[in-house]
Amino acid sequence: MKINKSKLWALGASVLIIWSCSNSEEVIPDLNVPEDEEDTGEVVIPLKELFEDYFEIGAAVTPQQADLGTAHGQTLRKHFSSITAENVMKPDALQRVKGQYTWSSADQLVQFAKDNNMLVRGHCLTWHSQSPDWMFYDENGDLLSRELALAQLEEHITTVVTRYKDDVYAWDVVNEAMFDWDPAGVIEYREDSPWYQMIGETYIDSAFVYARRADPNAKLFYNDYNSIFSWKRNKIYNMVKRLKDNNIPIDGIGLQGHWMVNTSEADIRTTLDLFRSLDVEIQITELDIPVYLSSDEPGATVYNDTFSFRQKMAYTMIFDVLLDYSDIITNVTFWGIGDDHTWLDQPGRKAFPFLLDEELNPKPVYFEVQKLVQNR
Ligand code: GLA
Repeated sequence: MKINKSKLWALGASVLIIWSCSNSEEVIPDLNVPEDEEDTGEVVIPLKELFEDYFEIGAAVTPQQADLGTAHGQTLRKHFSSITAENVMKPDALQRVKGQYTWSSADQLVQFAKDNNMLVRGHCLTWHSQSPDWMFYDENGDLLSRELALAQLEEHITTVVTRYKDDVYAWDVVNEAMFDWDPAGVIEYREDSPWYQMIGETYIDSAFVYARRADPNAKLFYNDYNSIFSWKRNKIYNMVKRLKDNNIPIDGIGLQGHWMVNTSEADIRTTLDLFRSLDVEIQITELDIPVYLSSDEPGATVYNDTFSFRQKMAYTMIFDVLLDYSDIITNVTFWGIGDDHTWLDQPGRKAFPFLLDEELNPKPVYFEVQKLVQNR
């Protein structure tokens, strides 16, 4: 029998209330928790082992974190089989000044991955954001010609992909090209992107061709957010179908996975079913689930039982779905390692979006996910 989800939420909420009322004589917990064990005595199975029969499990990282002399480096090596550069492979990081590439940070990440037997997802080659102005504008501030823009894009993609040929196994070739906040579904492409304004939508096609020429073996992805909403998933579907119909080399779709604790299971499943019909690989490329129900909810700086309950519900639902689609999902990457470092934090409002806490220890939600996988 399927349990109605809203009933589960209500049940959980009342359990939380009863628990907090009956908890007046608090037992002081034993703080000497043995390494690798939570106070429940549960053994931690590293994420990459937990999911090894299903998909690679990754994290977005900074160069400072990719260092075995740090807790972050040790955690990466223990839990993750794949890394993505949070920023240092973006166009403005690699080629801020035209013709002058700065490789050291990206090289460091790639070396860390090699030393520790991890895969690297390359992120990203073509994007309207975090790209240097010279890719878009001349010295008068006018948009470049289509020819010059394409030549520069080709040069950038060819240089970057060639350097990391055989080291980067999958590239986000184009990031966020589709328009959203458009429930009527009228506008297909993000028309405020300089790429679109200079070239039209075929800049997407060209980027994939340049990437394939530079590395015939890399997996080439289109990556976007809000992809599970009906209006956006249909646009992504149409665009990828167009590419495939025109023999443009695309291997997969990246769903960023900046989801919410109340994200709809049906939306995720419908999207995965739709994309499955395109015969492409799927990767969840930037997973994080902040603890709030909406942006209106007041912020907090301490992780509480309500947050924990919400995340248990959300993460177990999400991983249950992802496991159901593990024949097409090849990588699930978190957009960070632990709750100490996330783009979602604001002053007075922490997001706590991961399975590992601010000290990089497994949260209670981690053990729920672990149980889920073990029971399948
Ligand atoms: C997008 C980009 C990422 C990152 C996140 C948030 O999803 O693809 O590179 O910038 O936003 O920081």
